Amino acid sequence: MRNLNQHTITQAVLDRIHPDTNPRLKVVLTSLVNHLHDFAREVALTEVELMQAIQYLTAVGQKCDDKRQEFILLSDVLGLSMLTVALNNDKPAGCTEATVFGPFYVENEPEIALGGDAANGAPGEPCWVEGQIKGPSGEVIPHAQIEVWQADADGFYDVQKPELQQAQARAKMKADAQGRYYFKTIVAEAYPIPTDGPVGDLLHATGRHPWRPAHLHFMIKAPGYETLITHVFRDGDTYLDSDAVFGVRQSLVAAWVKQEADAKEGGATTHLHFDFVLNPI
Ligand code: BEZ
Ligand code: FE
Repeated sequence: MRNLNQHTITQAVLDRIHPDTNPRLKVVLTSLVNHLHDFAREVALTEVELMQAIQYLTAVGQKCDDKRQEFILLSDVLGLSMLTVALNNDKPAGCTEATVFGPFYVENEPEIALGGDAANGAPGEPCWVEGQIKGPSGEVIPHAQIEVWQADADGFYDVQKPELQQAQARAKMKADAQGRYYFKTIVAEAYPIPTDGPVGDLLHATGRHPWRPAHLHFMIKAPGYETLITHVFRDGDTYLDSDAVFGVRQSLVAAWVKQEADAKEGGATTHLHFDFVLNPI
């Protein structure tokens, strides 16, 4: 095909997709080409702008390594991660809502016993966290696997501190036979997402702040139930209505209650209680 113009080129590209192409790839690619071409026509994309976009995405890729995932961060600040969570986690009423995974999860974190210390020396105020894992009819889910991770009082995850020799403020544990879980950690604080890369440049260029409201990440797995990836946010945080990655859900905001240092709760001066309801498969 020759002499394609701005009106005919889109169909010409789509016609090149072979009929034997994987059906889902065909659906996704067809829509992507349609939207990309419509976008270029709508904004009257210039050649200089296309080259800037290519250079930007190249810089995003170059910022990635085994500890830093700038593409996830880009998807997060563009709201694409949270949109995809919303599209894929429409759970029945009563089930705990999901939110963004984020780039700071690490597999094979230390396993702690119930009541153990997830902080492992991370700076922060001691906090006791407890609750129960249930199903939507109130049934107890025994022995769920619970993974938690969070930033420390300085606003950093352990993986952002290259000098650290051990995991901090992340742990794995098993709920008991009644679905109860409890552990000691530190109080989560609001923190800025990393801004020393192309995503930071984008936030700066568009007048956006990089802050996430204080939260504790959970991933909960139990046989017969969907894996739940979520956070519990701290009520009263300044950034609950302007989360840099659009992840806040009101049902996930909880009171982190100040208390006298409590020996039964490992000397913690803050207490968080949060029950989770998993969605049966
Ligand atoms: C996080 O909560 O760990 C996170 C999520 C999205 C972007 C950056 C951090
Ligand atoms: Fe986080």
